[in-house]
Amino acid sequence: MKRIALSLLLGVALPALADRLPLPADTPASYSAECGSCHLAYPPALLAAGDWQRLMAGLNDHFGTDAAVDGKKGAEIKSFLERHAGNATKLGNAGNPPRISTTARFIRKHDEVPAKLWRDPRVKSAANCEACHRGAANGNYSEHDIVLPSPKR
Ligand code: HEC
Ligand code: HEC
Repeated sequence: MKRIALSLLLGVALPALADRLPLPADTPASYSAECGSCHLAYPPALLAAGDWQRLMAGLNDHFGTDAAVDGKKGAEIKSFLERHAGNATKLGNAGNPPRISTTARFIRKHDEVPAKLWRDPRVKSAANCEACHRGAANGNYSEHDIVLPSPKR
């Protein structure tokens, strides 16, 4: 009983905490173009400023790919990400290289996802947000807009 009461309380206390993460209005075109071509242009609030700085400093060896961006655009993207970065304490350690999907916050939010689903060929990786969040491109992470690939028959 106590547990149910607590979750109800939390549900009320944290209304739709982070299920809407649209790209901010001042998102530079370069961000979507340069950082949205291989994967989703991730919401900047899901990593802390220091993590974005580390990530931007290592773009020439970005998870096995070369994602280098030229100077002016790189600076524009970096300052945009810093401006809208999330709170380091709330997000937790993102690892090195930093990943949204390794932050404590991400792991907590996804603790109901069965481990084997992350490796399902239709998901491929936790970085592939759109495999489950159909509205991710519009910043919609609501639980009402999630499709989990059904178990293979
Ligand atoms: C050439 C393709 C490519 C480009 C361009 C690219 N990325 Fe990536 N990115 C990747 C790959 C590959 C991964 C690893 C995906 C995986 O693990 O499934 C990745 C992962 C990431 C992750 C970690 C995702 C997670 O697991 O939480 C972040 C954050 C990220 N990229 C940000 C950026 C930013 C910012 C830019 C623009 C400056 C960018 N990427 C441009 C290919 C790219
Ligand atoms: C394998 C499917 C899957 C993948 C891939 C996935 N998620 Fe999720 N996500 C879920 C599920 C399931 C929940 C929990 C929904 C709930 O209980 O409200 C969730 C919850 C969330 C929430 C919390 C929403 C809220 O109401 O507070 C956010 C934010 C989120 N995911 C972002 C992401 C991002 C960003 C990525 C990619 C880096 C991602 N997810 C990848 C399945 C997935």
